[in-house]
Amino acid sequence: MASSKPQTLIAGGAGFLGSHLCDRFIRDGHHVTCVDNLLTGRLENVDHLLGDPDFTFVHRDISTSTDLGTGYDFILNFACPASPIDYLRYPLETLDVGSLGMRNLLGIAKASNARILQASTSEVYGDPLVHPQDESYWGHVNPIGPRSVYDESKRFAEAIMASYHREFGLETRIARIFNTYGTRMRLDDGRVLPTFIKQALCDEPISIFGDGSQTRPFCYVDDLVEGIVRLLYSDESDPVNIGNPEEITIGEFAEEVVKLTGSRSSITYLPLPEDDPKVRKPDITKARVILGWSPATNRTDGVASTLDYFFDEVSRLGIAPINRRPIQRPFGRAGNRSAIQRRRSQGRLFRNRAGKNKRISDPRT
Ligand SMILES: NC(=O)c1ccc[n+]([C@@H]2O[C@H](COP(=O)([O-])OP(=O)(O)OC[C@H]3O[C@@H](n4cnc5c(N)ncnc54)[C@H](O)[C@@H]3O)[C@@H](O)[C@H]2O)c1
Repeated sequence: MASSKPQTLIAGGAGFLGSHLCDRFIRDGHHVTCVDNLLTGRLENVDHLLGDPDFTFVHRDISTSTDLGTGYDFILNFACPASPIDYLRYPLETLDVGSLGMRNLLGIAKASNARILQASTSEVYGDPLVHPQDESYWGHVNPIGPRSVYDESKRFAEAIMASYHREFGLETRIARIFNTYGTRMRLDDGRVLPTFIKQALCDEPISIFGDGSQTRPFCYVDDLVEGIVRLLYSDESDPVNIGNPEEITIGEFAEEVVKLTGSRSSITYLPLPEDDPKVRKPDITKARVILGWSPATNRTDGVASTLDYFFDEVSRLGIAPINRRPIQRPFGRAGNRSAIQRRRSQGRLFRNRAGKNKRISDPRT
């Protein structure tokens, strides 16, 4: 690695969050090595970067790879099945990546004398007995329930990060990420936002687990990326919550999505999955004070900014019937394009005025 640019390894870089981080670090002048086994991610999330000399894609499983090179300045670990559908489909891979994969990356960080950041999760708090959750809360996790493959994998990853920090003085950063949404989420990943939007666009019933009274926060991906970057460059080695503290019940959120999409969908109620958290809301005091960070995007703007992307996904997968009626935009119908609207199609196809898909030439703008 002869380049004078900062060398940054992003594990899970072909996933939803990882690919947005690849864009950000390339834009910030790093050389990015993206390692991904494409278990739940997609090469198309980074295909716009493949010809860039500052971007290298390595198709590998971090749970079985120790030879990913050295000489890195920064390592970000975003490799892990993240949606309940995915980690229930890949339970052992999920446990492996949080333990073996994490340990492999820590070995590379130690050999490189790199700073390493782990994408942890609000799920380390389990079904919380404290609300909102701040970083001092140790959590309420069922260690043998179906969700435990994810929760305990992430808790182990935090434990081994802390251990490397204590034993070797390695510079470690732990981001406890709360629900985040944005472009490049898979339509079929089972998470709330893509599921609701797909159902709304197809005028199918919106499926709510339980009675819809459980709460979730929703953080827009650009805000999350900014929080991660600030944490990486900070001196904080203890965990920091990164999420949007504005919580909403799932029932209210379903109604919001129906309104934003102009859908005719009704609501249907399904049994609540085992150990599903009833409430979730980050206390982000620490991020505000230490990182000077808080989310800048309100939910209505953020969700509206993802709709074109989901339209494209619905079309691409040939899911019919597609609801093509006009969408209520918070910014008005024409002109007056805000920064968030301009950003929404970064690296994606977008719908031009003639209704044709057009590729953005520079995805990093
Ligand atoms: N999106 C959220 O709301 C959220 C919330 C909390 C935490 N997180 C964490 O952020 C990270 C990224 O989440 P995401 O939403 O982008 O999920 P994602 O599934 O889109 O991305 C995960 C990526 O990791 C890759 N991967 C999985 N196992 C791997 C392995 N063994 N070796 C190499 N690559 C591997 C997948 O192929 C995928 O590209 C995860 O660690 C997740 O736990 C996400």
